[in-house]
Amino acid sequence: MSVQGSWSGKFAFILAATGSAVGLGNIWKFPYITGENGGGAFVLVYLLCIAAIGIPIMMAEIMLGRRGHQNPVNTMEKLAREEGASSAWKLVGWMGVFAGIMIFSYYSVIAGWALSYFADALRGVFSGITAEGAGKHFNTLLGSWPSLLAWHTLFALMTILIVARGVRGGLEKAVSIMMPALFVMLILMVGYAMGNGEFMKGVHFLFSPDFSKLSGAAVLTAMGHAFFTLSLGMGAIMAYGAYLPKNVSIGATTITIAIADTVVALLAGLAIFPIVFSHGLEAGSGPGLIFTTLPIAFGDMPYSSLFASIFFLLLVFAALSSAISLIEPAVARITEKTAMSRGGATFLVGGFSWLLGIGSILSFNMLSEHKLAGKTFFDWMDYLTSNIMLPLGGLFIAIFAGWVMSRKSSGDELSLSGFSYSLWLFLTRFVAPLAVLIVLLKVSGVLDTLFI
Ligand code: PHE
Repeated sequence: MSVQGSWSGKFAFILAATGSAVGLGNIWKFPYITGENGGGAFVLVYLLCIAAIGIPIMMAEIMLGRRGHQNPVNTMEKLAREEGASSAWKLVGWMGVFAGIMIFSYYSVIAGWALSYFADALRGVFSGITAEGAGKHFNTLLGSWPSLLAWHTLFALMTILIVARGVRGGLEKAVSIMMPALFVMLILMVGYAMGNGEFMKGVHFLFSPDFSKLSGAAVLTAMGHAFFTLSLGMGAIMAYGAYLPKNVSIGATTITIAIADTVVALLAGLAIFPIVFSHGLEAGSGPGLIFTTLPIAFGDMPYSSLFASIFFLLLVFAALSSAISLIEPAVARITEKTAMSRGGATFLVGGFSWLLGIGSILSFNMLSEHKLAGKTFFDWMDYLTSNIMLPLGGLFIAIFAGWVMSRKSSGDELSLSGFSYSLWLFLTRFVAPLAVLIVLLKVSGVLDTLFI
């Protein structure tokens, strides 16, 4: 094995995993859920969850993936057998397969919004746009289910074609250019917000915690988002872990990915909230937040159409490199276990998920008033996956890596020893599982019934 070979293996893994992590979660979801949950205190809990739960679980997932070397279902089954544990551990893999399909269903709808904004930006729609105009523009898009369906279909097809042809390598190369470009664009937008928005109000909103605004439900959302944004708890990172050469440090790689992901989210927040405050917009206005604020900034800049179209194109790329990792576990499971071709499996999984996405499309118009326990179909898809399935998946992954796997296996695979290994083991055995468990029990009301 040449040095070059292992280097490109490491590089390919970092690109794939960062591509999976950085996506709509950072730029679309983080700002809007931060806005809905009151800012600072929510952001602090989110950051704590990234550090104390996300990082150790990401290390665990990569480690399991590298050792198991298959789709998440088979990897869990194989590793459980190796450690003499029950083959029921494969259910963790199955839950991940379904979580991925469910997330993709609405992820593709939102990525469709970005595609539509890209097309609008090219046509110069945003130049000189006012806050009111941006709000109207967004509502017109949401109100038209045929447009939403067309853009959702286009994005789903793009993802399916990439996964079906197995041309991820090409996309990952693209990511290596697009990701830094997205970063530069975000810095530019933050620069705009500094000069033209209520920048200090934005900073204050994001970073000064007011714990009276923090509900139990907000803590669950922050924790769930730590899983979502790092692509954890459903096997995506496990599936990519198989690419990682043996001699690469899982710890250092994980920390690099987590920092990049967090910085992108914070930059998005810093670009958006100053505009929210300077235009008297509502921080808690929901999923449309970036689509009603960023166009105002672009509209005000010179070369507005150029900048806006570049930004939304980069956002679509970031979404694509995440989307492929959402359906990969399901596709890999089918191709490794049945005679079906990769193309067939991808169309099956992607097609099913696309169909499910129609429920989310209608949640924004025809069925927006049809709610179950106060939540639309889209809200439920997001809640069930981010707030329940990913944390549960992460909980079991932590228990498996921390308790079921022998210390020898995990220590060897992580190539850690001494303090860093003990720290990882402590976080994985105790901190991560207990934190997830307590938050889930608290929000479901079980803790209250037990103790009162
Ligand atoms: N991490 C991705 C984002 O932030 C979403 C994702 C979740 C991707 C789970 C894969 C698995 O956009």
